[in-house]
Amino acid sequence: MGLLILCRPGFEPEAAAEIADWATARGLHGYPQATRGEGWVRFHAIQPEGAVPLPGARELIFSRQCVRILADLENLPREDRLAPILTALREAGTTRFGELIVEHPDSDAARPLAALARSFGNALRPALRREAWLPGASDLHKPCLHVCFLSGTHAVLGISEPRGERLWPQGIARLKVPREAPSRSAAKLEEAIETLMSPQERERWLHPGMSAADLGAAPGGWSFILARRHVHVIAIDNGPIQPALLDSGLVEHLRADGFTWQPPRPLDWMVCDMVEQPRRVAARMADWFTHGWCRHAIFNLKLPMKKRWLEVQANLGDFHARCEAAGVPVRTRARQLYHDREEITVLATSAA
Ligand SMILES: C[S@@+](CC[C@H](N)C(=O)[O-])C[C@H]1O[C@@H](n2cnc3c(N)ncnc32)[C@H](O)[C@@H]1O
Repeated sequence: MGLLILCRPGFEPEAAAEIADWATARGLHGYPQATRGEGWVRFHAIQPEGAVPLPGARELIFSRQCVRILADLENLPREDRLAPILTALREAGTTRFGELIVEHPDSDAARPLAALARSFGNALRPALRREAWLPGASDLHKPCLHVCFLSGTHAVLGISEPRGERLWPQGIARLKVPREAPSRSAAKLEEAIETLMSPQERERWLHPGMSAADLGAAPGGWSFILARRHVHVIAIDNGPIQPALLDSGLVEHLRADGFTWQPPRPLDWMVCDMVEQPRRVAARMADWFTHGWCRHAIFNLKLPMKKRWLEVQANLGDFHARCEAAGVPVRTRARQLYHDREEITVLATSAA
């Protein structure tokens, strides 16, 4: 039947272009359907049912949640939505789930569906358990059933592959950042760390005692997140850093230009939130890897322009080309985080 993707409202064209390119690269036939502002994209697959593969957990940039559609239920009766959904699942022949997520798009129009999603989840969960379609406790090694309400009478049933890690309703990680964080941007780096790496990668790649540079650090939100993980940070910015952060002894502030400053020795991490042309940022990030100044990086690419998907492809393509030309293979993953507005966040890791 196809795929349903939830995305940031306003970024449907980017999510649609990305899934169309993803499908073409895999020889899959189909077409995306999207309306700007609705917060979702549907990819209609033109091939035998059940044959549509799902993109990997961190493969798409503009998708917050991506599920394979089991049934599209329009005109659900308001007085009993449960029975048609159970019937549709029985007909789809897919009834072994490890978890249930009831969600809705993040658009202004769909946000009032939050109460329905909550109460419907409370009704559907025990009904699924009675049929032994859902275990008593979440099993992250079994597929997850998604019920996505597009309106009060229109639900799409979908399934996502087991990942062995927690899934978030709407694909939005609900994370708490302490109030004393110097800026709201802190939540962005926390979300990047939690969503761009698996729990195992996080443990291997980011641990206490490591070193990092934070380019464009002021007032210190991202440095705060790293220092909270006991990483030693050199914060580069001509602007001021929150004094309490400097008192921690983990953060050193240097007033310098993030585009020319070089670390005195190789570091484990570099993070960059400088507001600059994405082309210029991507080129500077490539310098860091080709010179071996860091092993991992998290950086933002701001996208104030119109052709955002093309811009992302050009910038990431240029980043990889520069690294490859220098004989330094680097893997990247990118995502438009919940806390990203007109931008995406990239995780780059040296493959050496
Ligand atoms: C969005 S703010 C960073 C917020 C920060 N990540 C936080 O969490 O508090 C962008 C910062 O980049 C800095 N910046 C812009 N161009 C820079 C450059 N060439 N060198 C160093 N810092 C730069 C600005 O001074 C500004 O403080």
